[in-house]
Amino acid sequence: YNIGKEHFGKVEPMKPSQLAPSMMCVDFAEMTDTLRCFEAQGIEYLHVDIMDGEFVSNFTLGTDFCKYLRSHTSIPLDLHLMINRPDNKLPWFGIREGEFVSVHWESTPHIQRTLTMIRDLGGKPMLALNPATPIEVLDYVLDDVDGVLLMTVTPGFAGQKMVPCMPEKIRNTRAYLDSHGREDVRIEVDGNVSFVHAGEMRAAGADIFVGGTSSIFAKGTPMAEN
Ligand code: DX5
Ligand code: ZN
Repeated sequence: YNIGKEHFGKVEPMKPSQLAPSMMCVDFAEMTDTLRCFEAQGIEYLHVDIMDGEFVSNFTLGTDFCKYLRSHTSIPLDLHLMINRPDNKLPWFGIREGEFVSVHWESTPHIQRTLTMIRDLGGKPMLALNPATPIEVLDYVLDDVDGVLLMTVTPGFAGQKMVPCMPEKIRNTRAYLDSHGREDVRIEVDGNVSFVHAGEMRAAGADIFVGGTSSIFAKGTPMAEN
């Protein structure tokens, strides 16, 4: 995928872009057809938002939904835990080898232990940062992450507008990781990754793109085209 090439003309991807549709945006009545479409399109990950109504003011998907997806497709999951104290709940998710699991910096006082636990359970740990959370919180957990999930909206709801300074934060995060010798750490972006913003985010250094209502699930055009 060369998202944004046509908008910017000078994108030199360091890593291949990968797409992760946000499964909270799927019309459940169309689930089977949607999964077949994602497989046919070579979608890399299924982004599953887990919300507990406390860490964020919304309730969404849970462990049974993860089980359902794993038994109906071989596309790996990208779990995004927006829950308090994820350390206590990680074992519930049946994490599989190769799946990404994101936890928010603010969600536990023991983030290093939580990231390590994800790795021990076979997952690829990601640290999730809210728009206003500084990237320096990565300072002492850099060895414990395979990715950074940058929230480009305040988490909780689909259909919001990108916080305007987020492309700058993506650029700063890429520079920070590279200057710490972690060129391999992925940057995932989540929130209003629209057709226009995706190009800008790509140019800034993002490489995994969560597609929600403003792209993959945009109304009016077929999903495969989106
Ligand atoms: C929350 C979700 C949403 C959403 C993204 O973590 O992942 O941010 O579905 O899609 P948009 O913002 O395009 O609706
Ligand atoms: Zn998410």
